[in-house]
Amino acid sequence: MEKFLVKGGNTLSGEINIGGAKNAAVAILPATVMARGRCVIENVPDISDVRVLLDILSQLGAKIEMLSNDTVAIDTTDINSNEVPYELAKMIRASYYFIGALLGRCSEAHVSMPGGCNLGVRPIDQHLKGFQALGAEVTVDGGIIHAKADRMLGSHIHFDVVSVGATINVMMAAVRAHGITIMENVAKEPHIVDLANFLNSMGADIRGAGTDVIKIHGVDMLRPSTYSIIPDQIEAGTYMVMAAATGSSLLIKNVIPKHLEAITDKLISSGAEVEEFDDSIRVTGGKVIKKINVKAMPHPGFPTDMQPQITAMLCRAEGTSIITEGVWEGGRFRYTDELKRMGANISVDGKMAVVEGVSKLTGAPVRAADLRAGAAMIIAALTAEGTTEIEDIHYIERGYENIVAKLTAVGADIQKIIVPDGDSMRQAQ
Ligand code: EPU
Repeated sequence: MEKFLVKGGNTLSGEINIGGAKNAAVAILPATVMARGRCVIENVPDISDVRVLLDILSQLGAKIEMLSNDTVAIDTTDINSNEVPYELAKMIRASYYFIGALLGRCSEAHVSMPGGCNLGVRPIDQHLKGFQALGAEVTVDGGIIHAKADRMLGSHIHFDVVSVGATINVMMAAVRAHGITIMENVAKEPHIVDLANFLNSMGADIRGAGTDVIKIHGVDMLRPSTYSIIPDQIEAGTYMVMAAATGSSLLIKNVIPKHLEAITDKLISSGAEVEEFDDSIRVTGGKVIKKINVKAMPHPGFPTDMQPQITAMLCRAEGTSIITEGVWEGGRFRYTDELKRMGANISVDGKMAVVEGVSKLTGAPVRAADLRAGAAMIIAALTAEGTTEIEDIHYIERGYENIVAKLTAVGADIQKIIVPDGDSMRQAQ
């Protein structure tokens, strides 16, 4: 079993380079199957979710060539399968993007139900509603989603809930539907815009991405393209919170400051100083962390994927902070039990957590309940007295590239260790 050992108390200083956005990469890589030919994708993050997607692409018949650490060539000329097997699909959420992409490429897809972080119930009804509106026949049978369309036709789709995944999946299929598709009540996250830009670079005609309404003129074919993925908003936000939580100063490079505004705003309210430059941002933690209230909402609201990290910081704030989860139905506060092991004073009631600031946290054995929960454990550990042992770090490695090296370079005391399975300091509570 692999774990992180983090010794708290160090002040961080220096620069951190942000990689490509996970949630854009996990849409853009499947979308390459829609063009017959060789796409070159740059600024690809070095994370395990990406490695799984490249494995799926290979199994479908694509040829993968790493041109450098963060650039991959994907030749989809010889795609010869429309099936994503269970063993790979179950490992990540984004495996279901192959439904939209394969419908677009070959009018048929058979994809096992996806995996991903356990954030409570994660329905896919809005994805299926969108495919059906385009004329696809969709059935779910024995854990496999089957989608087939002899001819997809543009349609007017109003989503019942704002969903990142449904917006991405249906947008991919609609690019190849005949006629015009109007998608209303869509997600507006930066990765939606990035996927639309990538598809447009391949010859699609998508307008309005980043607003509530997306309009798509279907096209007969897409051509391969070379594309660079946007920087990861959440990776950047996580390091911003680390600087603020540890009273340190970090220059976070290769970011789009506009994508970070909701996070910047909350950090300033909590007493940190934030300086924005063209493609970097400096965060300097204040002497004390002030209490704040945070409500996680779809973009442009405060990102739900930053909710655990900011809560970890607020454990040591002066006063009481209230955190409200406005995207996920419960489930996203499971990590608070782990923070309590370190001395945090948090009570959760449904979609709300009340965090009474304490003067110190103490290192303890904890686990990463999911990807962002794992990032929250690292933040708490960096600010705690003593050593924290974090289990289940495979969740963290799904979405944070080279996190040990990046943190070590700015002065954190963090190491990855391998211990025999079952050798855990953590006691059930
Ligand atoms: N929802 C439905 N029906 C659907 C789809 C979603 O009711 O068909 C509901 C969900 O239950 C949830 C809300 O709509 O309450 C939003 O879910 P959404 O579909 O937007 O989430 P997702 O696409 O499954 C992506 C990210 C998540 C991020 C959310 C919200 C990827 C691969 N995942 O998930 O990222 O939390 O959007 O921004 O893009 C992470 O990176 O740690 C992560 C979990």
